[in-house]
Amino acid sequence: MSLLRSRFVQAVLIVVLSFVALRWGIRPPAPWSVIQIYMAVVVMAVLIYVSADSDSWRAFVRPLWSTLVDPDKRNVRLACLVVLPLLLGYYAYTQAAARPQAPPELRAVHPAPPAAIQFRGKEIDISGVDNPLRKDPAALRTHVAAGADIYVRNCMYCHGDNLDGKGHFAPGFNPPPANFQDPGTIAMLQEAYLFWRIAKGAPGLPKESTPWNSAMPAWEDRLTEEQIWQVITYLYDATGQQPRRREAAH
Ligand code: HEC
Repeated sequence: MSLLRSRFVQAVLIVVLSFVALRWGIRPPAPWSVIQIYMAVVVMAVLIYVSADSDSWRAFVRPLWSTLVDPDKRNVRLACLVVLPLLLGYYAYTQAAARPQAPPELRAVHPAPPAAIQFRGKEIDISGVDNPLRKDPAALRTHVAAGADIYVRNCMYCHGDNLDGKGHFAPGFNPPPANFQDPGTIAMLQEAYLFWRIAKGAPGLPKESTPWNSAMPAWEDRLTEEQIWQVITYLYDATGQQPRRREAAH
């Protein structure tokens, strides 16, 4: 393997292999700036290695030199003359070109709910209704269990088996499914608000929430009024959050 004995090939191999090892070989992946520092150290070490004595240095420079001047390397020279500027040009282009960016979306995450909604022909007063299932504390556990069943059948795929918004489908949606464990979601909402959001879903969101490409389905045709209250009860029970109370002054 006379090729491997060439100082130049050795130097290039060391640099390339170290780059591959640093870039793809280590877990967790190193940040780009760290890889740059390591590569600078590797290149300096290789230069010291090939220039340790004058024989080694001459052996290292020889292939470079002969590529530049030997008449029989004319084609290699021409190829370099084309390929190197192209690579540099490509690099400059990738640095300067504008990257496609999604336009910023300013959306009202918790828009004001309507005062009342139509639910299967019945009017429900969102600003004044409490969760009716809480009136009977003895039956609450049964409702929570029924809510868990409804959740697993209908909601888990998006909102996650841990109620943290990390369901199977979640990575495909922007905005992501709500994370009910987060104190910024159901903990700061009234139960009636949840009823509205679950019954009407994304299609029921008001204008101020546009551009709003939420995947949240409207459940009014699939779940009964009681089932929606049950799943709401389950959401609070399973996360240990408390719904926001209605101000007593109303
Ligand atoms: C197809 C995926 C999907 C399914 C299935 C789904 N959701 Fe959602 N849900 C979302 C997304 C996305 C959002 C966030 C955007 C929004 O608020 O509309 C959301 C938001 C919500 C919110 C509003 C939370 C907040 O902080 O405003 C509630 C409540 C909710 N979902 C309850 C449910 C319940 C209960 C079910 C099952 C009956 C369910 N979701 C099923 C995708 C889904």
